[in-house]
Amino acid sequence: MRILLLGKTGQVGFELHRTLSPLGTITAPGREQLDLTNEQAVTNYLAQTQPNLIVNTAAYTAVDAAEENQQAAQRLNAGLPKQLAEYAKANNARLVHFSSDYVYPGTGSEPWQETSPSGPLSVYGQTKLEGDQAIEQSGADHLIFRTSWVYSARGNNFMKTMLRLAKSKPELNIVADQVGSPTPARLIAQVTTLAIHSQLKTGLYHLAPRGETSWHGFAQEIFRQAQQAGERLAMGPENALTISTSDYPTPAKRPLNSRMALNKLGRALNIQLPDWQSQLALTLNEYLEK
Ligand SMILES: NC(=O)c1ccc[n+]([C@@H]2O[C@H](COP(=O)([O-])OP(=O)(O)OC[C@H]3O[C@@H](n4cnc5c(N)ncnc54)[C@H](OP(=O)(O)O)[C@@H]3O)[C@@H](O)[C@H]2O)c1
Repeated sequence: MRILLLGKTGQVGFELHRTLSPLGTITAPGREQLDLTNEQAVTNYLAQTQPNLIVNTAAYTAVDAAEENQQAAQRLNAGLPKQLAEYAKANNARLVHFSSDYVYPGTGSEPWQETSPSGPLSVYGQTKLEGDQAIEQSGADHLIFRTSWVYSARGNNFMKTMLRLAKSKPELNIVADQVGSPTPARLIAQVTTLAIHSQLKTGLYHLAPRGETSWHGFAQEIFRQAQQAGERLAMGPENALTISTSDYPTPAKRPLNSRMALNKLGRALNIQLPDWQSQLALTLNEYLEK
């Protein structure tokens, strides 16, 4: 299989570069080899490499900056997936793509189903939704995995920011009214690889660990597990103070309810997704041992 992996320097792309390697020959251009904002360059690259599997982890993921840079977000999150899907349809290739809990409106407290109505609150969410819709409408063989709150031992993410701040701050205010499931990039890569290998049926699936928490609950668990691992912090879980989303205004509006039902993927692959706390332990250990 000729695999084209886009976004190899990102959190999810880095992990997929490793887990996908037994499945075929991977071509993984970095930004310097292929600027994904350049539509013609992408067309030429596809014609040259002729992939039969495209795994697209590249995206415009700066949620607040997207409010200002709508054009760049639109190209990366909507135009690129559409272009890749058109190639896949015309060349009998499969497209694997990643989407976000931010496509949902964040109301209520029930988990979103894959069939739930969308209602993005931000430019990021809107452009990610347009990407999903373009893929679905293309008629290409595809897998779209909607995931949430991605973190890993690499890159910029909430886990690493919390650990850095907790080394110097006596207490921290953390948003407690947004609820979701923190998802390690490695889990995404493992399950995606399994799905590709199992020839999972074309469609849209939620992919996250089991269980739910708030950013505040996630931070408390990070501090608790880090202390348990012997990390010296200036504060503990008890010094994580709760604030609400309205106390912490950001340019982009975030959904309060990011719960996603996981039954569809679990049933289709015959797997049980692990809980978010055990996934944090694995990711934190990896990070602290570096
Ligand atoms: N992060 C989250 O919390 C989250 C939550 C839900 C869903 N998702 C989705 O999950 C997927 C993976 O996210 P992630 O956190 O792994 O993303 P990430 O760490 O921000 O990585 C994004 C990747 O896209 C590449 N990229 C961006 N613009 C490019 C351009 N013009 N040309 C070439 N490459 C470009 C980046 O390359 P450089 O390193 O060169 O910039 C990087 O490799 C995305 O579809 C995202 O929307 C993420």
